[in-house]
Amino acid sequence: MSYLRATRVASRVRFLSTKQSTSSIQEIDKYNDLPPNSRVFSMIQPTGRIHLGNYLGAVKSWRTLSNTNPDSEFIFGIADLHAFTTLKPATELKENRYQAIASLLASGLDVSKCVLYFQSAVPEHLELNWYLTCMTSMGQLNRMTQWKLKAQQSQTSSITDEKVMESTKAGLFCYPALQNADILLYRSTHVPVGDDQSQHLELCRNIAKLFNNTYGVDYFPLPKTLLTPAKKILSLKNPEKKMSKSDPVQASCVYVTDSPEQIQSKIKKATTDSIQGAWNYDPVSRPGISNLINIISGLTNESIDNTVANLHHLKDHKSLKDYVADLIVNEFDDKRQLYDELLQNKDYLEQVCKQGRDKAREMALVNIGEIKTIIGMD
Ligand code: TRP
Repeated sequence: MSYLRATRVASRVRFLSTKQSTSSIQEIDKYNDLPPNSRVFSMIQPTGRIHLGNYLGAVKSWRTLSNTNPDSEFIFGIADLHAFTTLKPATELKENRYQAIASLLASGLDVSKCVLYFQSAVPEHLELNWYLTCMTSMGQLNRMTQWKLKAQQSQTSSITDEKVMESTKAGLFCYPALQNADILLYRSTHVPVGDDQSQHLELCRNIAKLFNNTYGVDYFPLPKTLLTPAKKILSLKNPEKKMSKSDPVQASCVYVTDSPEQIQSKIKKATTDSIQGAWNYDPVSRPGISNLINIISGLTNESIDNTVANLHHLKDHKSLKDYVADLIVNEFDDKRQLYDELLQNKDYLEQVCKQGRDKAREMALVNIGEIKTIIGMD
């Protein structure tokens, strides 16, 4: 890899690592590449076709990392067991799973450089999940914010509240223990995720530490959070909310598979503001414009400051929107076609998944064997 390329990638990946004391999240702005022999792991839930938020928040950085660090290993999974925390008709789950794998391949993940597989195809995730669930306190889980969002509870809700307890499934509440099992099953060293997963990663390090201390071993590395550089992409129509497939407003979400006309029309309808004059990045008072700036920055790999500086030639909201739409159309053009072809070819998708499963399972079996020996379950 060329030096230039490496430093460019490195400077776009912010590192979080824990000092082993309590409040412990440290941000490092510059990082000169992943250390050799890192094992990088991440997952994405199969919610169907991937959208711009998923693409910039996860998949694009997975692709960049795995393409530019030949000395490291990359394992990327589709978290279908996590998706099961929201029950759906079987046909829909199955279709979502195919769409997720086709989207990842179409987005440019190269299976010669990473392992790509379905979580449910490697049952050792569930086995380790149990051991880790037994090491995780209800209090730790209760402090996590994601289940509250997903169970449509307020951020101050607590599982000790009778009503909250009735309406929250145990699987959703225990979701982070399974996520810890995903990461630790491969003894991963780095986990690229969006900001919303930082809390789960901190819990993961605590559980890894507890395991190591309990058994007097140095078995699990404490996985570092690799915070993906793109900011969270918001709904185009309501930039108060995250961009989401479940948004009933069609125009709020751009998919990797949208046609150029669909992309143009959605961007044209994006909510902005009526402020005239120079562009500025201000998520509070200009949420719509700032969201478009985040999109440009994510697609062009430029910092927010450089992105704003480069926009001076765009004189009005229409030209800004045209510019954003062109960037997205260009980025997704080849991916849309490939996605359609891949979905037509389910045999090929099956073959890719089997190959990924075999590689993942080989590692998982070795590690679960060692874990069982450590805990006395062999
Ligand atoms: N919880 C993650 C999300 O909602 C998905 C996920 C499941 C994950 N297992 C993981 C991410 C392991 C990183 C590592 O996006």
